Amino acid sequence: MRICRFYECLLHGKTGNQSAFLLEPRHCHFLNSLAVIVFGFAMHVAVFFHSKTGNTEKVALAIKAFFESKKALVELYRLEPAKDFSPKELEKLGRVDLKKVPFAMSNYDLVFVGSPVWGMQPTPVAISFLKTIEKTGQKKFVLFLTCHGLAGSGTKKMSSILAVKGAVVLDSFTIKSLFPLGEKHLKKTAELCEKIYSKIVVP
Ligand SMILES: Cc1cc2nc3c(=O)[nH]c(=O)nc-3n(C[C@H](O)[C@H](O)[C@H](O)COP(=O)(O)O)c2cc1C
Repeated sequence: MRICRFYECLLHGKTGNQSAFLLEPRHCHFLNSLAVIVFGFAMHVAVFFHSKTGNTEKVALAIKAFFESKKALVELYRLEPAKDFSPKELEKLGRVDLKKVPFAMSNYDLVFVGSPVWGMQPTPVAISFLKTIEKTGQKKFVLFLTCHGLAGSGTKKMSSILAVKGAVVLDSFTIKSLFPLGEKHLKKTAELCEKIYSKIVVP
């Protein structure tokens, strides 16, 4: 676990977004490959998420904790617009430029992408991120949303963007609550992760 924390700080810095060493994707790719070999991580997982009020972040952290318990190397990436906008402004804007995060998609065995639901849709930040992903080959993705109760066809929209890139959407789930997410929702997230894990690891 300590190795994971050290490695995470090296890649993303303490803020979770910016490496203290300003690593470029090709450096990350090299370091990641080295870490998987040297430290014997079982698999390499990335969790990209947008979160304004913390619910989606909680789910992202629960996913990370679950996969780390399975000895995976997990990288967490917060997606943020390059400029600060209110949710209403963002909704009007549609596609937005995002703050740059250093990652190389080719590194990962499994990629999670999470978003809050705004107006029955994933947020423009999450959609913009999915649109920037280049052709992925058969990479496995899992999509997740958090909302009050009405998710619309949010994960379908995300899946359709990924389908064009050749990605395989292994699963998707929505965590619903009118209130800030608590233990019950995080337990549910861990249960869903267990199901997803059983799909990718043949006993
Ligand atoms: C601008 C805006 C629009 C929203 N629209 C919906 C919606 O259509 N359906 C719904 O169930 N919840 C909606 N919500 C609630 C959020 O999806 C929910 O609180 C979510 O968990 C927030 O995630 P976050 O804490 O990671 O930002 C909306 C919230 C905001 C701020």
